[in-house]
Amino acid sequence: MPKILVTGGTGYIGSHTVVELLEEGMEVVIIDNLSNSEREVLHGIAAITGTEPHFEEVDLRDRNATYGVFDLHPDIEAIIHFAAFKAVGESVEKPLDYYENNLLSLIHLLEAMNKFKVDNLVFSSSCTVYGEPDVLPVTESAALKKAGSPYGNTKKISEDILQDTMRSLKGKGVISLRYFNPIGAHPSAKIGELPLGTPNNLVPFITQTAAGIRESLSIFGDDYNTPDGSAIRDYINVVDLALAHVKAIRRLLDQKQLSAFEVFNLGTGKGLSVFEIIKAFEKTTGEKLNYKVVGRREGDIEKVYADTSYANSELGWRAEKGIEETLQSAWNWEMNIRSKNKRT
Ligand code: NAD
Ligand code: WQD
Repeated sequence: MPKILVTGGTGYIGSHTVVELLEEGMEVVIIDNLSNSEREVLHGIAAITGTEPHFEEVDLRDRNATYGVFDLHPDIEAIIHFAAFKAVGESVEKPLDYYENNLLSLIHLLEAMNKFKVDNLVFSSSCTVYGEPDVLPVTESAALKKAGSPYGNTKKISEDILQDTMRSLKGKGVISLRYFNPIGAHPSAKIGELPLGTPNNLVPFITQTAAGIRESLSIFGDDYNTPDGSAIRDYINVVDLALAHVKAIRRLLDQKQLSAFEVFNLGTGKGLSVFEIIKAFEKTTGEKLNYKVVGRREGDIEKVYADTSYANSELGWRAEKGIEETLQSAWNWEMNIRSKNKRT
């Protein structure tokens, strides 16, 4: 069974992907510096799968330490690169931290791929590269817009770096996965999202509000040109998202002659508004949510959702889980961490 390096593997999407890779019988080596995750996540992964992944506490900005992991595991066949800083607002405050962390980490991994002869990479990209799309649903060939934040720009630049690097190298394959809005948690509620401090994203803010940690959810705008006035996104279950990574790894390992750089949208193909998410959450959990409408959040776009037909036909993947099941999983996770008193 292939050995896969997962950077950022104790993080939110990484941990769910590690679970699915282990369930497939693959061997996993995690690199994470724990800057936005906790070592305890490894116990959650082991409790679900019965297997402990290898774990290397390494900062990818440290080239020698990164090379050290490849020395230790010379049989790594493919890499899934999740590790990055991801907070849009923080990236505006600290752009150089974002450029340094997100770009240097990628460059060091690409150098390691060359040096240690690893041929396959799956990269975590984002629908943020599309900005406010001209046509919906948005396909992979849509024009990329100027990034709305330094964070978003690191994704755009990373894709450029990958494309340029792959052009110069023979026999390597890269798949860039553009995630829409990942939400929810593993159905076991043993792993999930652990936002530090006040969440920026909608669903963790909803679950924390329902749990009484936040007083009220602010809805950022009800005057958009959408049926109910609130903004529309494509919310994708994190387990569905994780399964797409398994498909991408299989595609890279199985098809040696694939084109060097491929891009796939990962979403459900369906747009939901903020009000629809709130209603679905209240319906499935039976919890009543305090909320108020406030002004639009700077930098937000009106609506975006994916055309997933390329991922459906070429990757053989589609999102399976419905929104209520997904929001219920987020709520189960919230209650689980609250009972363990892990967050104040
Ligand atoms: P996360 O913060 O939960 O996970 C990222 C992990 O990377 C963390 O565990 C962190 O400790 C680690 N990390 C960061 N910098 C590192 C470094 N220099 N060396 C080693 N480890 C490092 O984030 P996530 O939500 O799981 O996102 C994973 C990836 O998906 C990121 O690249 C993110 O940009 C991308 N993405 C996320 C979303 C989303 O909404 N969550 C959407 C689109 C794309
Ligand atoms: C969703 C909707 C908000 C919070 C971000 C990044 C993007 C990608 C995914 C990484 C929007 C509204 C939110 C709140 C609200 N990440 N909202 N009240 O902004 O679509 O995307 O995460 O690549 O790059 O920008 O996600 O969850 O923050 O917001 O009304 O308290 O919920 O306005 O319409 P977003 P989000």
